[in-house]
Amino acid sequence: MNQKNYFIIGASGGIGQAIVKQLMEMSANNKSRGKIFATYHANQPNFAADNLYWLPMDVSNEKSIEQAIADIKQQAPHIDWVINCVGLLHTPHNQPEKALRQLETDFFLQSMQINALASLLIAKHIKPLLAKAERSTNAPAIFATISARVGSIGDNQLGGWYSYRMSKAALNMGMKNLSIEWTRSLKDVCVVVMQPGTVDTQLSSPFQGNVADEKLFSPAYSAERLIEVLDSMTAAQSGSFVDWAGESIPW
Ligand SMILES: NC(=O)c1ccc[n+]([C@@H]2O[C@H](COP(=O)([O-])OP(=O)(O)OC[C@H]3O[C@@H](n4cnc5c(N)ncnc54)[C@H](OP(=O)(O)O)[C@@H]3O)[C@@H](O)[C@H]2O)c1
Repeated sequence: MNQKNYFIIGASGGIGQAIVKQLMEMSANNKSRGKIFATYHANQPNFAADNLYWLPMDVSNEKSIEQAIADIKQQAPHIDWVINCVGLLHTPHNQPEKALRQLETDFFLQSMQINALASLLIAKHIKPLLAKAERSTNAPAIFATISARVGSIGDNQLGGWYSYRMSKAALNMGMKNLSIEWTRSLKDVCVVVMQPGTVDTQLSSPFQGNVADEKLFSPAYSAERLIEVLDSMTAAQSGSFVDWAGESIPW
């Protein structure tokens, strides 16, 4: 990869941070390296590089998304890869629902806003910068969102987790729709939703009890696999739902 500019949203989280570190490592030996724009929410992570630009962004606020992208525009003529790593499964007040009686309107709507709507708003505002990326059918620009296997309707065997499952399913539909729209209006961009594996982060930590050690990935391992998969994507694969190994997941 050379001179690609990256936009990593949610880079203060476990997977997002690992993706940024992996991209930094990949670019360290590359003299003509591109820029990495990385967003944080509550706190700015304390690592740096001369091609890494931290930006604050609250994905539940469209103005904040617009502002971050306006700041990028001042510093880069194009963005080649976008990876949205923001996600919400639980808060200090809400755990994922085990049964319908636990469903709460505010938490459901918050999950929809953060997990589903945000990627559409980011796509809406980043489109002009993606349009300027140098790209081809075999080396498309990338618009990826970390989704989750539990957002698959076809794969749902266990039930529960209404807010998270429904918001990831809505995200998946939004990204599929976007892939179709961009086939017409923004060619050679691969829109993809991804399952990162079960990854050891604060998001998954309350739910790791039944996960075998070898199935619990480090953020660094997941990041490496996800980047590898994205690097192999062609424009024809736009509209895919794939896991960390590049395997398709049923919608
Ligand atoms: N870990 C897993 O096993 C697993 C499995 C399947 C899918 N995923 C998905 O992978 C993605 C990354 O998750 P992770 O495991 O890395 O979780 P994480 O460590 O909790 O990271 C989530 C990130 O989302 C950010 N965020 C939350 N609300 C936000 C908002 N309103 N605006 C901007 N940023 C916001 C958080 O920032 P603050 O902390 O500052 O709010 C944090 O940086 C998520 O989409 C998740 O659903 C994870």
